[in-house]
Formats: sequence, C-alpha cells, structure tokens
Amino acid sequence: MQPWVRDARPEDAARVVAMIHALGKFERKPPSGATTATFLRDYLGARSWVRCLVAGLEAVPVGFALYHPAYDTNTPSHGLHLLDLFVEAEMRRRGVGKALIGALARRCAAEGGEWLSLHTRTENANARAVYARLGATDLGFRFLSFDDTAFAALAGSGSV
Ligand SMILES: CC(C)(COP(=O)(O)OP(=O)(O)OC[C@H]1O[C@@H](n2cnc3c(N)ncnc32)[C@H](O)[C@@H]1OP(=O)(O)O)[C@@H](O)C(=O)NCCC(=O)NCCS
Repeated sequence: MQPWVRDARPEDAARVVAMIHALGKFERKPPSGATTATFLRDYLGARSWVRCLVAGLEAVPVGFALYHPAYDTNTPSHGLHLLDLFVEAEMRRRGVGKALIGALARRCAAEGGEWLSLHTRTENANARAVYARLGATDLGFRFLSFDDTAFAALAGSGSV
C-alpha cells in the first residue's frame, strides 16, 4: 500500500497532538504542552509559525512532519527546515517517513527552494540511519538555544 501525504487540517488536531506527545515521550522530553488549541493557533492560524503535513496508509494519519522556511546565506538560497518527523511505532518501515520527506522536498522545489535541513539528536541512531539512507549529509553542527534565564536576561537587556 502506498502512503498518502497532505496538509494537516483542523480535524487532524487531536491526532497530531497525540503524535507530538508520543514523539516527546520517545525523546524523553518533559511532558509536551501541545494541545488542539496550540495546533490550531500555531500550525493553521493566520500567523502560524510552522506548517504541518500528515501521512497515512489508510484513512487515519499515522505520521506527521512539521517544517518552516529556512535560508542559507552562503549559497545564497532558501529551503525548508524539517522541525519534527514522527511515524507511529507500529506503522514504521512502510515508507510513511520517506513519503513525508519526499512530499516536503517537492513542496520546497515548487516554492523555488533548493534543500531541506534538519537536526536530530546524536543518540537517535534510528533517525540518523533513516536520514543517511535517504542521502542526508551530516553537517556536524551543534544545535544550541537560549532558554529560561539566559533568554530572559537577553530579552530584558537593551532597548532594541
Ligand atoms: C524516523 C522515522 C520517522 C522514519 O519513519 P518510517 O516510516 O519508519 O521510515 P520509512 O519506512 O519511510 O523508511 C525510510 C527509509 O529508511 C530506511 N529505514 C527505516 N528505518 C530504518 C532503520 N531503523 N535503519 C536503517 N534504515 C531504516 C527504510 O528502509 C527506507 O529506505 P528505502 O526506501 O531505501 O528502503 C520513524 O522511525 C520515527 O518516527 N521514529 C521515532 C521518531 C524520530 O526519531 N523522529 C525523528 C526525529 S529527528
């Protein structure tokens, strides 16, 4: 059976949120704050931060990809950054993940983009194997963030 892929719709909210919680658990993150309300606001709202594809083999979505626009100064060119990718455990290795990434690449190319980027945890050997299998290059970057007190200190300093 060939996987299907489409843009997420409001009726997918509960399903996608359940998968976001499962991905967070898989990655041993603190419990996710994602809700159907944050899905509707941040993924489908007028000022959404990310966009979402869902995929499945039968009627119900069993995987999702979150992504946002990205830019490379050196080339200079734009692409899409794959923020999260997840397929339900019992539906893996049936082509759903590849279908999501393929759909993202076609969408990117259709919008004039030239590449996909992503980050993954070093210890996620399964994901690294999947991305390597699909031809991804490991750029060897460290992925950092300013959170909590560091962010508050930066945001609270200066006037611009
Ligand atoms: C990563 C993930 C989304 C892949 O989804 P999937 O539906 O199982 O992937 P596919 O079946 O489409 O496989 C894609 C390719 O990778 C290969 N592959 C899949 N799992 C693999 C593994 N564990 N080791 C080696 N290759 C693997 C497949 O054979 C396929 O290659 P092929 O088309 O040449 O045969 C899924 O494993 C997942 O949800 N994992 C948990 C969450 C996660 O780690 N997300 C990524 C965070 S960065």
